[in-house]
Amino acid sequence: MTTTSSNDMTRREVLTTVALGGAALLGSCTSAAPASAEPPRSQPATNTAGASTSNTPALAGKHEIVPLPFRAGALNGLSERLIASHHENNYGGAVKNLNRVEQELSQLSADTPPFVVAALRERELMFRNSKALHEAYFGNLGGNGKRSGAIEGALASAYETSARWEQHMRATGVSLGGGSGWAILGLELDTGGLRTFWSGNHTQVLAISVPLLVMDMYEHSYHIDFGAAAGRYIDAFFANINWEEVNRRYERAQRVSALFRGVPS
Ligand SMILES: [Fe+2]
Repeated sequence: MTTTSSNDMTRREVLTTVALGGAALLGSCTSAAPASAEPPRSQPATNTAGASTSNTPALAGKHEIVPLPFRAGALNGLSERLIASHHENNYGGAVKNLNRVEQELSQLSADTPPFVVAALRERELMFRNSKALHEAYFGNLGGNGKRSGAIEGALASAYETSARWEQHMRATGVSLGGGSGWAILGLELDTGGLRTFWSGNHTQVLAISVPLLVMDMYEHSYHIDFGAAAGRYIDAFFANINWEEVNRRYERAQRVSALFRGVPS
């Protein structure tokens, strides 16, 4: 999806975005601007081969790994080894596996056993969401951690104070410590409201929502640096949030939500 104004977007485009779990919107958001810790990216940060446009083959199996929007060693309190390994092995693995699953699914025929289809569909959803959430995660890092902009006021309205929201987000992350999952701040498209939720197995996301801020709580996202001390990782994550990027996502998600609900944005 391109960064068109709300007037340029059709309801069909909005529904396409929603049906894809907001991945299309996220893709455009992560490529919108560089993280503040680094100069502008030299490469696009969006996987256009797998972009969620209505005329793109569903099972092309040609997704590409999106480069980090910052230098792996540039973050504050999150090591280069950790970030590079996470990006290459965990995120990169999801992209490669998604391609393989799509290639397998493209061969589906009337003779394909239902249990094979079921297994492939389960893996497809898991790898597709893992890819999208990892791109959102890396895309919302590289900042100075100082909350500002429209999202600050919106969080205060939704959670009494933005500090109170942070308490919710941190507690959600802590609740996943030692296990696996994602803590996510999203915009619920059918209400236009901000929601904080968790996602297990890359799949249990809030159905009609666009992720604005994504915090990876799988152990691979912190164990190299912090062992089992998930709370220390959460501190480091918050210190590196790129709130400019979160604000860009919020602004776009509001416009998509308005179109989805059929109200003026
Ligand atoms: Fe991860």
